[in-house]
Amino acid sequence: MKKIVILISGRGSNMQALLKANVANARIVAVISNKADAAGLKIAENFGIETAVVSQKDFKNRNDFDCALAKKIAHFSPDLIVLAGFMRILGKDFVARFEGRLMNIHPSLLPSFTGLNTHERAIEAGVKIHGCTVHFVTPELDCGPIIIQAAVPVLDSDSPDALAARVLKEEHRILPQAVTWFVENRLKINGLRVEIADNSAEKTPSSVFPRST
Ligand code: GAR
Repeated sequence: MKKIVILISGRGSNMQALLKANVANARIVAVISNKADAAGLKIAENFGIETAVVSQKDFKNRNDFDCALAKKIAHFSPDLIVLAGFMRILGKDFVARFEGRLMNIHPSLLPSFTGLNTHERAIEAGVKIHGCTVHFVTPELDCGPIIIQAAVPVLDSDSPDALAARVLKEEHRILPQAVTWFVENRLKINGLRVEIADNSAEKTPSSVFPRST
């Protein structure tokens, strides 16, 4: 049984998708937020998951916050930490401590559109395909080895919100898939590439276009 800690900052819909997916041989042992008012905390409690808040407001600098968060996470001795809408940049000591078991979901097809406001920027840039990425976290923001991506079309009529909603649907699908592969010990990091061992007859591609929109 692999133990998972999820970090959130807000709504928590990706966390909820992961809770609902009920990944075999995995147990979500805690949900930690850096915001006391994160809506996702209530959802986690309703699933009977232990929650905690570690707020940057309580610490005088970034490093102290990172240390407190790392300590809280370590208390649960997780095999995997999932950043599911965690909107705080983590320092390099924090990342080094958990490297290889720190996963993030990002709302763009990395390496395009790292950082914030990805949907607005995708529309502005005129790209025809946008999407989402689950990747391992490394010290450089949104640049770690990619585990799985999903693409959606960008429509002429899209507002950032409409595009975000189309992407979010795919996020809710690929995050549980990435976690399942991790729990099955199928992910091997090789430089910037993540190889997915095939331990079954069925092959699941790690780059998936939705069948319809
Ligand atoms: C998601 O779209 C996630 O990809 C994004 O925040 C949203 C959180 O939604 N994460 C980032 O932008 C991280 N850089 P949720 O709280 O409903 O899962």
